[in-house]
Amino acid sequence: MKLVFASNNAHKLAEVRDIMPSGIEVLSLREIGFDHEIDETGTTLEENSRIKAEAVYQYVNARKADVSGVFADDTGLEIDALGGRPGVYTARWYRIGEDSIPQPAGEGEVFAANRAKALRELEGKENRGAQFRTVITLIKFSETNDRPSLVQVEGIVRGRIATEEYGEGGFGYDPIFVPEGYDKTFGELPAEIKNTISHRAKALENLVKVLEK
Ligand code: IMP
Repeated sequence: MKLVFASNNAHKLAEVRDIMPSGIEVLSLREIGFDHEIDETGTTLEENSRIKAEAVYQYVNARKADVSGVFADDTGLEIDALGGRPGVYTARWYRIGEDSIPQPAGEGEVFAANRAKALRELEGKENRGAQFRTVITLIKFSETNDRPSLVQVEGIVRGRIATEEYGEGGFGYDPIFVPEGYDKTFGELPAEIKNTISHRAKALENLVKVLEK
């Protein structure tokens, strides 16, 4: 089975390919020639995940591409002491509520600015509990009629925000997120461990269950 993963994030793509069982081939947006920006205008992970999946589904459907469907992931870091923030604003948190800040030069600087903000916001707070939550939307072409099916699945990993950065593996907030049951951050743990216990791994496990039904 071939599925398109509706993301331009190379880190996510690598994780998804690593996690997916061998019977499911994952195509990137580049491989199908999709090069548009998708505006994530939703106010929840569920909405943004659906917006991305639908945009790529329209593209694939118009070209009658030889794939079984499309799926998109939207992920948020939800911090207990901040009432679940940054949630849907996780990707650009560094600039939310800030008056004027220099524009980071690239992806690595955005990630670093986001992590610095998390550490600042939690300074002096005892409760450092947090979770990553991923919502995946799958839109699958139907074999029997013209209407595609849409399903959403979720994956959560609980953990805590470290008091400083540790490790350089992974991406985004990985160097400050310590998953429950471990005393190392995702930035320190080997990819094989992250890709077994992470939010994305759990959401993909649920996706595979849906595909096997
Ligand atoms: P989105 O799903 O592309 O909107 O991702 C939002 C942001 O969450 C990303 O830009 C990263 O900063 C962060 N993020 C998503 N997945 C992970 C992860 O597995 N580890 C650490 N940070 C992540």
